[in-house]
Amino acid sequence: MQNRFIDGINQLPKPLATALVPLLSDDFGGHINAIQLSNLMTTSQLNEQDLLMALLPIAAALASPSLSQFYVGAIVKGSSGDIYMGANLELPGEALFHTVHAEQSAISHAWLCGETHIMDIVVNFSPCGHCRQFINELVDGSKINIHLPGQATAPLSHYLPYAFGPADLNVTRPLLSKSHIEFALESNDPVIIEALDQVGLSYAPYTHCHAAVVLETHDGATFCGRYAENAAFNPSMQPMQMALSNLIRHNRDYSEIKRAVLVESSKGMISLVGAAMDALHTVAAVELEHIVVEPTDI
Ligand code: THU
Ligand code: ZN
Repeated sequence: MQNRFIDGINQLPKPLATALVPLLSDDFGGHINAIQLSNLMTTSQLNEQDLLMALLPIAAALASPSLSQFYVGAIVKGSSGDIYMGANLELPGEALFHTVHAEQSAISHAWLCGETHIMDIVVNFSPCGHCRQFINELVDGSKINIHLPGQATAPLSHYLPYAFGPADLNVTRPLLSKSHIEFALESNDPVIIEALDQVGLSYAPYTHCHAAVVLETHDGATFCGRYAENAAFNPSMQPMQMALSNLIRHNRDYSEIKRAVLVESSKGMISLVGAAMDALHTVAAVELEHIVVEPTDI
């Protein structure tokens, strides 16, 4: 089991701890599939909501709060029945807007794994305004149930009344909607091919700056992040932040990063290259490879 989970495991009821430990292998990054979840419910004798609440210390252990030492954990449930953990990530020595919130980490985790609908989010602290706005970008966002310790479950519409969202900017296919745009690039470099595929799955309805980052570690593993825009612009999640939070969730260290690639669309109104470089260089002395690609279907 990974050392970062020891304190969390000690907070769990014994039967749950015993059933969970075998799942917490070296590469555990917070994804528990529907079958594993149902086994955990059986062994722990907890209903789903109580089980997810009990698992929050495990999600919070995925955090890297190098500035605040404040551990936030979130768990989302996707329509596949799988659950995805996320935690906050603070980048040392850089402006605070580079921070990834636990809710963003968990939601992006589910999105990267192909989920197209999220119904529930469980968090150990009340979601901040920025996260409420981020959640409101999702398919049926206002209906997503927020579960907090000691609070009655309520949908996002309770936490974010009079919401501003994608519909105000005439966006009808919000974040998590299935869509894939084709981009053309001749390459047989597997890292670039992976990034190209992820660009097509990114969400950029406001600037059309479809973009993705792939980080490769010394052992050849890859961790990607896609761009996820927000109707209120500032709460958008940058692909570099999504990729770094993916890497840290998976128990990797920044020192393992060997290569970083940003691929973005030539048709975007903006470029994410400056933002991506700033974030990358806070944690790794690796040059960012920047590749601009043409969409094939417009
Ligand atoms: N934080 C979250 O992860 N989610 C919230 O909604 C509240 C705040 C994190 C961000 C930062 O890493 C730390 O908590 C202090 O604000
Ligand atoms: Zn937040």
